[in-house]
Amino acid sequence: MSFSKQINAFLEKGVLLSPDVMDEHNSFDILNELKEGHEDLIYLNKDLKEIIFKKKIKINLKEYEKANFLLEKKKAEDHSRYNVPRNNVELVFSYNKESKKRSVNDFVSFFNSRFKELANMLRRRQELQGLTSIVNVSKKTERENVAVIGMIKEISITRNQNIILTVEDQTGEIKVLVNKSNEDLLKIGKDLVLDEVIGITGVTGKNIIFSNDIYFPDIPGDKEFKKSKEKSNILFVGDLHAGSKVFLKKEFERFILWLNGTIGNEEQKEAAKNVKHVVFTGDLVEGVGVYPGQEDHLSIMDIKNQYIELSKYLERIPPHINIIMCPGNHDAVGLAEPQVQIYKDFAECLWDLPNVYMVSNPSIVNVDKTETFSGFDILLYHGFSLIYYSDNVESIRLAGGQKRVDLIMKFLLQKRHLAPTHESNQYIPDSDSDPLVINKVPDFFVTGHIHRASASQYKNITLINSSCWTETTPDQEKRGLEPQPGRLFIVDLQTRKVKIMNFLGL
Ligand SMILES: [Fe+2]
Ligand SMILES: [Fe+2]
Repeated sequence: MSFSKQINAFLEKGVLLSPDVMDEHNSFDILNELKEGHEDLIYLNKDLKEIIFKKKIKINLKEYEKANFLLEKKKAEDHSRYNVPRNNVELVFSYNKESKKRSVNDFVSFFNSRFKELANMLRRRQELQGLTSIVNVSKKTERENVAVIGMIKEISITRNQNIILTVEDQTGEIKVLVNKSNEDLLKIGKDLVLDEVIGITGVTGKNIIFSNDIYFPDIPGDKEFKKSKEKSNILFVGDLHAGSKVFLKKEFERFILWLNGTIGNEEQKEAAKNVKHVVFTGDLVEGVGVYPGQEDHLSIMDIKNQYIELSKYLERIPPHINIIMCPGNHDAVGLAEPQVQIYKDFAECLWDLPNVYMVSNPSIVNVDKTETFSGFDILLYHGFSLIYYSDNVESIRLAGGQKRVDLIMKFLLQKRHLAPTHESNQYIPDSDSDPLVINKVPDFFVTGHIHRASASQYKNITLINSSCWTETTPDQEKRGLEPQPGRLFIVDLQTRKVKIMNFLGL
């Protein structure tokens, strides 16, 4: 039977035929079977055909239509929630690509695209005018002033305490000498890390550049310090680790009560009234199987139940407040960065909350945009790489390591990359672009993971590491770590003032 005949034959019975059923040869048989018991069928698709005819199940079509309608409605709502600005929240960047097998070529194009993006930022710098490629520098025989951009392949220290870098671009590689007699430069040289992209000016020697200066992509100096015209408070909440024995339930309960206007002094209650957004920076639950022997520290053994525990608190956040959340290394999602949104299958209870915006790690979210105001761009990064830099960057290590998360965050902004060194995190070598490059200068840069409470500012960007809601574990104490739990960051977007509210003492 031809397609048009099939359609007409079904239409005579009052049934609209879906194209996926028309591919079947036996649609006439179906038509005969339709005579009995399915008078209320108005639309036939492949799924429905399976149910009715192959499995010989009589279904309540009205219920089926209703369920389908609700499903489509939910899909449409999800779509609008994630694609159209709503309640002053817009997802500027959230990674959502399916994971796939990667090849060596992916790694090559990943590093190439990272290099290109960071080199473009450096190229804008006045000091690096007259740039040349590395292959051209190697050809020079006389002493000449040069400027190059390269990715650091090797760092070594000579017996005389000079630093020798090997840097490469797409044309070749060359050695760069950082002479210890140039104190300012040596200071910069000591903080360099592998795989970061830098600009170098200097004088050529035989297959070497004697460097005079080193430049980072960095944040431009003209970043505007934006302030909102309307009253709006945003909160930053760090590592909750729900499901762990050390999750600070009592304190987090107080946080929820405060948000509902139940507790706090007058000033604190006033602050709660103006809250429009809460940002969670990952490690929402403790997870399972994150490290050997973790079972002993769990109060809830199943990760789905850990999310359910958390949702019991979050569903009590007033619905007009937007909840924005990215995953961390303890959440139900792959460890490699960028991490996509927390898997719906594991955290359905959170996804179902009408005011939740799930985003990737890292991601950029814009809040409070109006017709006359561009809103605030918030760069969320859980912070897996932070510990590597606290150990491997000399000036940060000497200043206190993890206790100086403000310095680590500034360091990453200067490098314009959330994990410049290959071994500082696990990552997906996305061949199109490197999602960990900080290509958009944000107004807020927020992290977690280190469990410290820190607020600082760098070139008009507010930097926040958002505390944690866990007791200090014996293991952390043994490792000399000092978490600062129970601190809530409240930022008044009208003044950009950051306040810390300590729920441990409330
Ligand atoms: Fe954590
Ligand atoms: Fe973490």
